[in-house]
Amino acid sequence: MALANEHYLKLKAGYLFPEIARRVNTFAQAHPEARIIRLGIGDVTRPLVPAVVEAFHRAVDEMARAETFRGYGPEQGYDFLIEAIRERAYAPLGVDLRPSEIFVSDGSKCDTSNILDIFGLDNRVAICDPVYPVYNDTNVMAGRTGPADERGYYQGIVYLPCTAENGFIPELPDEPVDLIYLCYPNNPTGTVATRDQLARWVEYALEHDAVILFDAAYEAFITEPGIPHSIYEVPGAERCAIEFRSFSKTAGFTGVRCALTVVPEALTARTPSGERVSLNKLWNRRQSTKFNGVSYPVQRAAAAVYSDEGWEQVRREIAYYMENARIIREGLAAAGITCYGGVNAPYIWLKTPGGMSSWDFFDRLLEECHVVGTPGSGFGPSGEGYFRLSAFGDRANVEAAVDRIRSRWGR
Ligand code: MLT
Repeated sequence: MALANEHYLKLKAGYLFPEIARRVNTFAQAHPEARIIRLGIGDVTRPLVPAVVEAFHRAVDEMARAETFRGYGPEQGYDFLIEAIRERAYAPLGVDLRPSEIFVSDGSKCDTSNILDIFGLDNRVAICDPVYPVYNDTNVMAGRTGPADERGYYQGIVYLPCTAENGFIPELPDEPVDLIYLCYPNNPTGTVATRDQLARWVEYALEHDAVILFDAAYEAFITEPGIPHSIYEVPGAERCAIEFRSFSKTAGFTGVRCALTVVPEALTARTPSGERVSLNKLWNRRQSTKFNGVSYPVQRAAAAVYSDEGWEQVRREIAYYMENARIIREGLAAAGITCYGGVNAPYIWLKTPGGMSSWDFFDRLLEECHVVGTPGSGFGPSGEGYFRLSAFGDRANVEAAVDRIRSRWGR
């Protein structure tokens, strides 16, 4: 008799974004005339930039000729992309990575969940609340938790509330934890952590022999100087942190798929018997066993992001989205809606008008304004009463959405 993984049954609801899509589709079918504006899931809308497209085409042409055709590539990624990442993404930050510390993959969503393969089940996990739901749900699926309570907190996970009161930066836990998920610039709140704030977490992790899983998927959207783009800008982080980065939002790769994970060689964890093992070696073993690498044309396309031309073009697209963020933030704030984020991240986190629940606001926004956002409570109990708007829409839609919300809820 085949036994199912019963931990999946503990999950309270469907994954957030498909659930939103389901509700929106139901509404759209009932109201085919409605011009729905989607600012829910953080999915890019601008096309790939020309430098990326050219590199992509060239690589496909290489695959079409016997003399340049390539079969399996290195599971860790091609040297040309790893070198570009070292030199263009990390060296300018003063972070000197070895090629063997960078692992190219097909997405940070997969990596932030796959990384759990190399950690024991008995680790105590700390997760921010609200949070990108993948960190929470994959720990439930792995069997690291008990059931959820009535608020939606799973037994065994240490939740770190991130609220307006603490500036959306979690307090250090008051009980020992072993794995800590941090995401800055933050999804969903759109806020950032300063170097000193990250340094406190690095100090905590070093002191408690814990590992930080640092999701930096939105670092390219930082506009203010002095905000760290990588946790490795904090000395000592190479001994206690794994970092995830993605081309998805940075370069419009949500449908192309390319990301990277950094696992420093200095990073170790203990076995139950006390032996220290290299997490870099375990991740390398995991990837070479379970993953066959990202396709050659995609890696050429990703490397083109770091060419002078590609980077300039990508920066322009990022500026476009950040202008959307400004329009949303300033437009709603001028209408008396309290907004956070949107300065160094493509998300605006707003307080629902009149203290409405997040899902009530979702439904009313959809029904009355035909605008889709993401209910804050879908990211965790501390997100209740908040709502997330994504800045990845096209300009005319973003402006129309802000107008519709202002005319319905503005002061
Ligand atoms: C989001 O909307 O939070 C993101 O698009 C989800 C993701 O990157 O997987």
